[in-house]
Amino acid sequence: MMLKPRMELGQHIRDCDSELFLIHTTDTPQTPPHSPRSTLAMPSELSFAVFKGSEAGKVVQSISTRERLLPDEVLLKVTHSGVCGTDVHFKSKDIVLGHEGVGIIEQIGSGVKAFSVGDRAGFGFLQNACENCAQCRASDEIYCHSRQIYGLGILDQGSFATYSIQKAAFIFPIPSKLDSAYAAPLMCAGATVFNALFTGNVRPADRVGVIGVGGLGHLAIQFAAKMGCEVTVFSSSDSKKQEALQLGATEFYATRGMKTLEGAKEINHLLVTTSAQPDWDLYIPIMAPRGTIFPLSVSQENLVVPYMPLVVGGLRIQGSLVCSRGVHSKMLEFAATQGIKPFVETFDMSVEGIEQAFERMEQGKLRYRAVLVAKQ
Ligand SMILES: NC(=O)c1ccc[n+]([C@@H]2O[C@H](COP(=O)([O-])OP(=O)(O)OC[C@H]3O[C@@H](n4cnc5c(N)ncnc54)[C@H](OP(=O)(O)O)[C@@H]3O)[C@@H](O)[C@H]2O)c1
Ligand SMILES: [Zn+2]
Ligand SMILES: [Zn+2]
Repeated sequence: MMLKPRMELGQHIRDCDSELFLIHTTDTPQTPPHSPRSTLAMPSELSFAVFKGSEAGKVVQSISTRERLLPDEVLLKVTHSGVCGTDVHFKSKDIVLGHEGVGIIEQIGSGVKAFSVGDRAGFGFLQNACENCAQCRASDEIYCHSRQIYGLGILDQGSFATYSIQKAAFIFPIPSKLDSAYAAPLMCAGATVFNALFTGNVRPADRVGVIGVGGLGHLAIQFAAKMGCEVTVFSSSDSKKQEALQLGATEFYATRGMKTLEGAKEINHLLVTTSAQPDWDLYIPIMAPRGTIFPLSVSQENLVVPYMPLVVGGLRIQGSLVCSRGVHSKMLEFAATQGIKPFVETFDMSVEGIEQAFERMEQGKLRYRAVLVAKQ
């Protein structure tokens, strides 16, 4: 086992059956000069198992090590993590995967006031921001130029992990009504779709369209329906129709092979949650005048849309990311009070479990979010 030589220095192995689940805190006795020998304990190293992407696109187990917590950080024992479509895009990168984490705080830095050891908290896509630029001062820190976000910011911490070190200012208390397995998918999928609806000024009785019934899409249907909107769902086949209606949709279209959606009611706000860009020619004609399209899919392709319908219909295309912290907190409260609950399939927090979850997601079999669950 790694780190064995230091075990006698105070290493705690919390799950003895597996080297996956270890946290290593070394107590170094401090002896100030000219004083009797002191036993002041100084935690001096944190090491724990994490799951990373790799060049071959395979998930690998690794170890993240930090000398100690910074004053503004917390150490969470990860209990649950959602698996987002964006994780698939990072499978071939040498980074710790996962950005839909929920866990229990086990240590706090010396400057952390808002959380205590034992608290349950979640963390997501936004890891850090400067707190001082125009965007941060306007509570719009997701667009901070100095932000640190999943895949581009802090690369040795994530939610596919046994533990995770996060900035305390960027984690969220989980409302008691939300089970951790259901809270995890809200940390990115929920945050992304709620942000489009909430900051997009969606109002009751507006008609919301959702393209794609996956992790994001099945939450978008629920949020929009609970906000009092009429929800039309566009999915590639009929296979998700019953569940989409159960989640709150009032209209459903199976779109594979369709050349027109003539007859569909006009859409005021269209959330695009597919894993690739849709056929824009199909959707632009059903947009209501002054309607807004929110392309949420991650895609490296250019956006090519019919031009004149945009001009004459006064349409908007509004890019959108996950939310800033204020909106994220509102999203969690809204989900808790309105009973919004992801449909989850659970997998082990292990290389095998993560690979299985990716496979089901890439084969389009998931209903509708994979959640990795840590061993007890
Ligand atoms: N903007 C942001 O901040 C943000 C945040 C999170 C995720 N994302 C992105 O949002 C997208 C969806 O993420 P997710 O986690 O919801 O993924 P997901 O669970 O895999 O859902 C994607 C859905 O897209 C449809 N789909 C699958 N393959 C497709 C293909 N080749 N072409 C078109 N549609 C396809 C399927 O819906 P149907 O079976 O109903 O057709 C599927 O359920 C991803 O691109 C992800 O990277 C963006
Ligand atoms: Zn900033
Ligand atoms: Zn995500």
